[in-house]
Amino acid sequence: MKILIIGGGGREHALAWRLSKSPQVRGIIASPGNPGIAQVATCVAAPADVSGYADIAQARGVDLTIVGPEAPLVAGIVDQFNRRRLKIIGPTQAAARLEGSKIFAKQFFERAGIPTARSVQASSLNEAIEALKQFALPVVIKADGLAAGKGVVIAQDRDEAKQAIAHLGPNVVIEEFLEGEEVSFMGLSNGNVLFPLAPTQDHKRIFDGDQGPNTGGMGAYSDPRILTPAQNGDIMERIMLPAIGHMRQEGTPFTGFLYAGLMMTEDGPKVLEFNVRLGDPETQALMHSFRGDFAEMLTLAANGTGGISGRAWGGCSVCVVLAAQGYPHAPMSGDAITGIAEAEAMGATVFQAGTKQKCGQLFTSGGRVLGVTAGGETLPYAIEQAYAAVEKVQFRGMHYRKDIGQKGLRRW
Ligand code: AMP
Ligand code: GLY
Repeated sequence: MKILIIGGGGREHALAWRLSKSPQVRGIIASPGNPGIAQVATCVAAPADVSGYADIAQARGVDLTIVGPEAPLVAGIVDQFNRRRLKIIGPTQAAARLEGSKIFAKQFFERAGIPTARSVQASSLNEAIEALKQFALPVVIKADGLAAGKGVVIAQDRDEAKQAIAHLGPNVVIEEFLEGEEVSFMGLSNGNVLFPLAPTQDHKRIFDGDQGPNTGGMGAYSDPRILTPAQNGDIMERIMLPAIGHMRQEGTPFTGFLYAGLMMTEDGPKVLEFNVRLGDPETQALMHSFRGDFAEMLTLAANGTGGISGRAWGGCSVCVVLAAQGYPHAPMSGDAITGIAEAEAMGATVFQAGTKQKCGQLFTSGGRVLGVTAGGETLPYAIEQAYAAVEKVQFRGMHYRKDIGQKGLRRW
């Protein structure tokens, strides 16, 4: 089969790398791809709009398309493909509102009885300021719409909250601050059933110990011990299955990867947000530890004729993101990267995100440059392997978190 992957970051490199190992995959095309993806796929420039991806799929005889980022999903790429009877994994534009609009998502959680933070939506400055009175501190302010992780402010006092409203408003959601450990829970649905992937944890803040501003994600690990079987069951019963069931009932069945960003609170799991795609960098960790034929799994799950067994994951894996100088505010680019081959010689896989190639040399070209990923039977071993490989890689101004996976060590 021939596969088209849409996107050009570390998540898409990990998908392409894993799919390239599947015996039934005869060719991979990526749009736009990146220099890392080009090692295992043919990269073609991104078209001007989402219908252009359907043209690519049609012209090149693609059997199955997978969409990495949310923007084309929110723009209706799946509807375009469906109209032309081209196979694609992802939600329709209507279902993608679960990520595209925080207000839609919040109202959906209420209708479906899905546990989430108590919240009030406001559509004017005055309404928002008035709503603040109903919440204790700290309080969370979220902008409606796609904000690439930058639309959330956790305000410690009322002045900070008012400033955030002035900055993000007028359409904001104000919600209670939840305490607990965050977990990324993803599953693949055909609209009727949902097959869970292994649990992962992201590290969103820029500095060790979860300090500093939010980023797109500075690293992730995959470890079955992140959740007990009881917690797993709870998440499926109280969150994932009601979501799939209600989307179907409302006439907008959810197909594709559903990602629940969860807070494991004292009262059980609560949803912080839904994404309608795979996580980045969670996917790098997941693809690294996936055992078996990923293309087959995608086909079976998308057709609803088979699942993903728990044995699909082999142990633990850790992805450490190497970021460019100045990330997340003003990342530098154009610095030469060395040491990838040496890192891979140690057993790690280096997924590329913000890179470009010029005259056979690799340069930085974006905030999150590389995801150095390694695995093993145990989490301590996976961490050790990943950081040993990180030592080999260099570029000017490179920085990364030293504590990816640390939170999970107490479970070992
Ligand atoms: P979001 O873009 O909704 O995923 O929010 C980004 C980050 O803000 C999350 O990963 C959490 O760390 C934090 N966050 C969002 N909502 C809440 C909340 N209600 N309580 C505590 N932390 C939150
Ligand atoms: N890693 C968080 C996300 O992909 O949204």
